[in-house]
Amino acid sequence: MADKELLDSFDRELAGNGLEGHWMGGSSEEDKVAYEKDPHTSVQAHVWKWSIIYKHLMRAGDIHGLEGMADRRTLRLINPAYQNLPSRRRRATTHTIQMSVQLLKPGELASSHRHNFGAFRFIVEGRGAYTVVEGEKFVMEPGDLILNPPMTWHGHVNEAEPIVWLDGLDYPLLNALQVITWEPFPGDFQTIKDSTKLTAHRIGMARPTWEKAAGPLQYKWDDTYRTLKNLEASEGSPFDGVALEYVNPVNGGHTFPTMSCCVQLLRKGETTRTHRHNSSTVYHAFRGSGVTVINGKKYEWEQGDCFVVPLWSWHSHQNASKSEEAILFSMNDQPMLEALKLYREEPGEGA
Ligand SMILES: [Fe+2]
Ligand SMILES: [Fe+2]
Repeated sequence: MADKELLDSFDRELAGNGLEGHWMGGSSEEDKVAYEKDPHTSVQAHVWKWSIIYKHLMRAGDIHGLEGMADRRTLRLINPAYQNLPSRRRRATTHTIQMSVQLLKPGELASSHRHNFGAFRFIVEGRGAYTVVEGEKFVMEPGDLILNPPMTWHGHVNEAEPIVWLDGLDYPLLNALQVITWEPFPGDFQTIKDSTKLTAHRIGMARPTWEKAAGPLQYKWDDTYRTLKNLEASEGSPFDGVALEYVNPVNGGHTFPTMSCCVQLLRKGETTRTHRHNSSTVYHAFRGSGVTVINGKKYEWEQGDCFVVPLWSWHSHQNASKSEEAILFSMNDQPMLEALKLYREEPGEGA
């Protein structure tokens, strides 16, 4: 049997030639994680309190004036696991998706640009400002979801009161794939289309025969909330309560090919059953308060808080109130896993 010195010297020789033996391990924390039946994730469960987010967002609005360096007053939710990574890899709420919170001040015009990472806006507070996507003007009101598909020009205008929204992006996934493209709009700002050219106002079950693709889309809160309330008395999902997915109306599929958006009503006092899946989810408590149990640990949330459930973590949700409903908005990376035939889901014990 070869002695250790010979083996070490052989390993060094291999490394010097850009080679590695299959027997080689490593000494980093990541190297110490053995391959096993259950997937292992770097994503950490975490809650971002709204009071902290909001305080710092308003401070960003004060410090970064409209004539200053900042093109947008946006705060990214950084997963604690990625805090010390280089900036592009740090911009991640999970390993695949990113949620941010943006303030658009009165008088602000956020210049137009486009990129191949998909994005959406979910409006939290304020009304009257509008976003322009591919020349379509979408007035933003709380609870609205507005899609900004890959490579669509987008910019924002506020001639009303301060407005705050969530941005959701599949940026970390595209960054890992090293395919990101980004470009500024060639000109001052997009020209707003006349109303006969708008796609957003003609999405439904009856559509023009000559239009195949949906452009930017808007889901108004009044419609979403009405659907939630219509289904309130139904059984709902055992794992998520009355949960809706924002379906792409063109193909009936997920919101985006890479990520999906959902909203769920947890009825007064409702506790969901435990399950786990290998997609990760970022939640925002839009209304109410409650508790999400992740791998046996309780994470309390109240209105405005955002939190992460990492992949393959056992989790269940509880509306802690007997008198108020709770509504969670969320984004997940399930579509990407399904497309790669990798998606897995399991009910918990006794579920
Ligand atoms: Fe953008
Ligand atoms: Fe889940």
